[in-house]
Amino acid sequence: MEDKKTIFSGVQSSGFLTLGNYIGALRNWAKLQYDYNCLFSVVDLHSITVRQVPAELKRRALEILKLYIASGIDPEKNILFFQSHVPQHAELAWVLGCYTYMGELSRMTQFKDKSTRHADNINSGLFTYPILMAADILLYQTDLVPVGSDQKQHLELARDIAIRFNGIYGDVFTVPEPYIGEVGARVMSLQDPTKKMSKSDENPNSYIAMLDDTDTIIRKIKRAVTDSEGEIVFREGKDGINNLLTIYGAVTDKTIPEVEKEFSGRGYGEFKAAVGEAVADCLRPVRQRFDELSKNKDYVEKTYKEGAKRAEYLAAKTLRKVYKKIGFIER
Ligand code: TYM
Repeated sequence: MEDKKTIFSGVQSSGFLTLGNYIGALRNWAKLQYDYNCLFSVVDLHSITVRQVPAELKRRALEILKLYIASGIDPEKNILFFQSHVPQHAELAWVLGCYTYMGELSRMTQFKDKSTRHADNINSGLFTYPILMAADILLYQTDLVPVGSDQKQHLELARDIAIRFNGIYGDVFTVPEPYIGEVGARVMSLQDPTKKMSKSDENPNSYIAMLDDTDTIIRKIKRAVTDSEGEIVFREGKDGINNLLTIYGAVTDKTIPEVEKEFSGRGYGEFKAAVGEAVADCLRPVRQRFDELSKNKDYVEKTYKEGAKRAEYLAAKTLRKVYKKIGFIER
């Protein structure tokens, strides 16, 4: 590994990826990859906190790995792997669970939210999920974790666990910092812009999937809920317009004031058409690379096998240190 700081991040394999995942996470990863040693994982162990159909899970996990590469994340430079291929994630999660309090886990908003949505399956994995996430991060002595703002609370818990563990055993873990992009840290639903854009939304018009085609993207943005004021400015109470300004800014690399200026005095119809085109232009090359990768199974397989090997080497090093500090007998 080069002498650079370390990044770890991941996406669950519980469904297809949305424009929210792309803007909030993948796009930033692609930008950061040159300045850091990066590990990007498809965190499949996390996804079984909600019931999955096995064949679907398998297909989705591969799809996401290919989307990482298609988004411009270079498999030569970065470590790309499936979480389930590196057993140290689950092992460290057990250890960290013994240093995490029930009260801390009870405060996690994602747990509260998911247990309301899946009231028939409030399993203990759903509750301890943030511990596994802390293990993902701490295993690689991660300095920086690029995520959307919905993951901030989990990240704070990971920091608290690291600080607590270090307090008892000395400097074992690097205490990670979140990296949350300025524009697009929370992309909202196109149908209810007070809610986060999410793949689990029942209404497909509420999200854009990364693999949606151009016509679908343009149509969904055209139907996005806005307001009746007719003014294209970012202001409290204009959630729909704020969201479209954010999306446009993110995919064109412009600031919100720049976008406001560009569309000043123009109508919503014209604005929506421009946003649709910009999103479609941004995702088109990703979809094309994805299709090419789908024809190249060997390359994809080589990428994740190699990735798991490199990740495991680093993970084992940290876990050995942890076991030693705790006082387990060395093998
Ligand atoms: P997940 O799989 O829900 O989402 C993956 C990434 O996408 C971001 N994201 C969004 N960003 C902006 N707007 C949105 N509407 C939006 N929806 C999703 C998320 O913030 C995230 O960065 N617990 C994590 C996965 C995880 C992880 C980790 C992340 C497991 N271990 C270690 C970082 C480090 C999750 O459920 O993300």
